[in-house]
Amino acid sequence: MAIFDACGKGQLYEKGWEMLILGVHREPWHDTGAAVLVERGGKVELVSVTQERLDRVKDSRAFPSDAIEYCLDAVGAKQQDVDLFVSDYVEVPVWNKDRLIKGDYHPLLHNVTDPRVGTLDAPVEKVAMINHHQAHAASAFYASPFDEAAILVVDGRGSDKETQSLYVASRKDGIRLLEKSDRLGLGLLYATITVKIGFGILNEGKTMGLAPYGYQLSADIIDWSKRRFEGIHTDYSRLCGGRYELHDPLPPMTEQTKARLAYEVQEEIERGMLHLARHARQVTGAKHLCIAGGVGLNSVANYRLLREGLFEDVFIQPACSDTGLPLGCALHGYYQIMKGNIRWKFSGPYLGRQYSKSEIEDAINSFSGYEVSPDPSFNKTMSLLVENKVVGWFQGRSEIGPRSLGCRSILMSPCVAENKDLLNARVKHREAFRPFAPAVLEERAQEFFNLNRPSPYMLLIADVKKEKQSLVPAVTHVDGTARVQTVNRDANQPFYRLIELFGEQTGVPVLLNTSFNVAGEPIVESPQDAIRCFLSTGIDALLLEDVLLIKRMEPKTRG
Ligand SMILES: [Fe+2]
Repeated sequence: MAIFDACGKGQLYEKGWEMLILGVHREPWHDTGAAVLVERGGKVELVSVTQERLDRVKDSRAFPSDAIEYCLDAVGAKQQDVDLFVSDYVEVPVWNKDRLIKGDYHPLLHNVTDPRVGTLDAPVEKVAMINHHQAHAASAFYASPFDEAAILVVDGRGSDKETQSLYVASRKDGIRLLEKSDRLGLGLLYATITVKIGFGILNEGKTMGLAPYGYQLSADIIDWSKRRFEGIHTDYSRLCGGRYELHDPLPPMTEQTKARLAYEVQEEIERGMLHLARHARQVTGAKHLCIAGGVGLNSVANYRLLREGLFEDVFIQPACSDTGLPLGCALHGYYQIMKGNIRWKFSGPYLGRQYSKSEIEDAINSFSGYEVSPDPSFNKTMSLLVENKVVGWFQGRSEIGPRSLGCRSILMSPCVAENKDLLNARVKHREAFRPFAPAVLEERAQEFFNLNRPSPYMLLIADVKKEKQSLVPAVTHVDGTARVQTVNRDANQPFYRLIELFGEQTGVPVLLNTSFNVAGEPIVESPQDAIRCFLSTGIDALLLEDVLLIKRMEPKTRG
């Protein structure tokens, strides 16, 4: 920690570097953001943030000016210090028509909707535009532990309207595209059913949560015989159109119909991903597989794929949605364009900037309605959890990607069945059917879950062991599964220690871990965001780095 504080204003490094690359994912896509890669002193380091965390608009499509400034500021750099700008491109004419700016600067890095705002003045010779799927592929492979791998990218659509791509990669030769599909694929199928159920776009996670409720409810609603699997293609064009419509009429949309649709599409995603994985293995002969693109967030499909044992190991980029694209752009720029040769050691998705002690103090002094606990220890925090309090947890650098993994989290005891409803009523306000996830000490995960490998990014679903379900009812889904995060001591020491203490006290080394936000809002980023969320919800206490805030109880008036 001292290294961060010593640099002031949350900067990660003293000024000075051998190379600085800025990766940008910009509008009109959703989840815009930025990443800065620095090579310095024989090491590669990254900072990355999604624009939504800063402008506080969920899935923000804004030009990522705030994210760019945040990342450059974290390393003490300015735009003119950047050696290479890398962004993914969009080949849709209607989106490009406003980009008529000419001159010495690259037009594609200007704001589409308003060129006067958020312009990135990048000299043409320092700009590289890369394919959206290529950026996804780089984000997964260069973060993976593999020297060689096949890479599957599966999302809605990429730069050239492709839906699924297969790459082969090696540290020596880089990443090479083998095949791609432009047919209506798994991502758009899942999005279409999600819209039909009524959850709206970008809410596929809700469909996954609803799916177990549709098991054996009735016969198939969708005629799945109409799909075609062929090589890299999983073609659903005889079932769906491109604008979230289904060709065949649906029965009346009752709760049962919704659950059945969710169940069917979930099963289909699993079949489709298995087909693609088998195809990737057959074509590349690779022992390892990397997965990126939004469909990689489907933790149920991921674990089914792993259990098939098609590959010796599989790495799923924790920011496999478009939130990981800035990272992929920066990594592609470093390894494939600048031919950087220092290996980036990916030790977790904690890529936000550090907040200094004075920034934390300023935030605490800007609000009221709480007391600073004289005992800010982890022991005290643990005892609040044992007393069944709701605890906000803000530690270190924020996580990139859609999941909170122990740096911006809301925590509760998993041992009380009612905690799910209690948390929903007091803080999260989510649909009642959606499960909450457990974070468990890595070494003790197998005592509670049928999981034969670490799951550090909450991207795998596993069965909760029958005899343990009554011990962790708040994180056991209706079908007896859980979306598990295994916590490694070295990857996140404070979080590990807290769970360890809770385990020593209760015998259950597990905590309910959900993202630090309320429904419809982005995860908190700054200390101010965290305090605001703490004060506006039913969170009882907030550990903000090493300061424990306890909400002040208003005296009840007699009446
Ligand atoms: Fe994507």
